[in-house]
Amino acid sequence: MNAIDWSNLSFGYMKTDYNVRSYYKDGKWSTPAETTSESIDIHMAATCLHYGQEAFEGLKAFRGKDGKIRIFRMHDNALRMQSSCHGIMMAELPVEVFEETVLKAVKLNERFVPPYGSGASLYIRPLLIGLGAQVGVKPANEYLFLVFVTPVGPYFKEGFKPTPVAILRGFDRAAPLGTGTIKIGGNYAASLVAGNKAHEMGYSAVLYLDAKEKKYLDECGPANFFGIKNNTYITPLSSSILPSITNKSLMQLAEDMGMKVERRQVPEEELATFEEAGQVGTAAVISPILRVDDIDENKSYVISKDGNAGPVSTRLYNKLKGIQQGDEPDTHGWVTILE
Ligand code: PLP
Ligand code: COI
Repeated sequence: MNAIDWSNLSFGYMKTDYNVRSYYKDGKWSTPAETTSESIDIHMAATCLHYGQEAFEGLKAFRGKDGKIRIFRMHDNALRMQSSCHGIMMAELPVEVFEETVLKAVKLNERFVPPYGSGASLYIRPLLIGLGAQVGVKPANEYLFLVFVTPVGPYFKEGFKPTPVAILRGFDRAAPLGTGTIKIGGNYAASLVAGNKAHEMGYSAVLYLDAKEKKYLDECGPANFFGIKNNTYITPLSSSILPSITNKSLMQLAEDMGMKVERRQVPEEELATFEEAGQVGTAAVISPILRVDDIDENKSYVISKDGNAGPVSTRLYNKLKGIQQGDEPDTHGWVTILE
């Protein structure tokens, strides 16, 4: 293989050596097995193609200074995938199958885990699809769970440099009693038009408002939202956002640092009071927010006055990266070291 330019990777797909698959049939999951094929041969009436029986996850593996490979909060991703299974009536994937498949996929592709200090990581993408044929709107009776990996750089090309985000009032990502809290492909399909519009206007992402009242901040297209003021970490409580594992980790780290943590409804106007704000997620890590523009209302909230990441976001970012790479002690038991 050609040498990989680790420090200049973008967030994209690169072919690796193997992916690992487990099939659900007759009520049982098969032992995860590797393949070199990048294709899936499926029935044309598979429910994933017609009725959106598809869920996915995203997590990362990091190489430490000690050369060891660390996977971040794999157990939490396994549990979230189970909640996605329940949400769209797919066979529940056992946590052990999730973890065994992830570990196997990373192990078999060890040479693609970027070196310590490159700023890159190995993105792990588990996905679960309905394979069984149906024509009526019904869940499938057969499923495929697959994990592939790919080395990635920053999700936003600006990395840790603040970017502007847009509120586009003409679009919702998810309904209050809909599927926003689970990680299914349909939510992302529903966000493509707004996301594309925001990108064309020079924004890194859409910041969605709650769909019912259009009053409170929900989350960004690919990440949760947080704001910082008065030594407090504030993040929206909503029934239509994805429970981000990165956000949950940052709430804990903020508390560890002696900050107050508030998870509550955040009215749009409160943006004017934040000293710092950011998008958080596995792919986004912490992507600081420069400014929020409410396009339809012609309002603008400047968050970063000097165009740089703020001190609290920087401390949180360094702490999180430190734990993920093994530079900082893993006091909360978040890291699985690959054997
Ligand atoms: N919100 C959305 C819509 C996402 O797609 C993601 C990414 O997974 C997140 C939030 C962040 O979640 P996590 O930190 O678990 O990656
Ligand atoms: C992640 O952060 O893992 C995501 O899934 C976000 C995006 C790539 C959809």
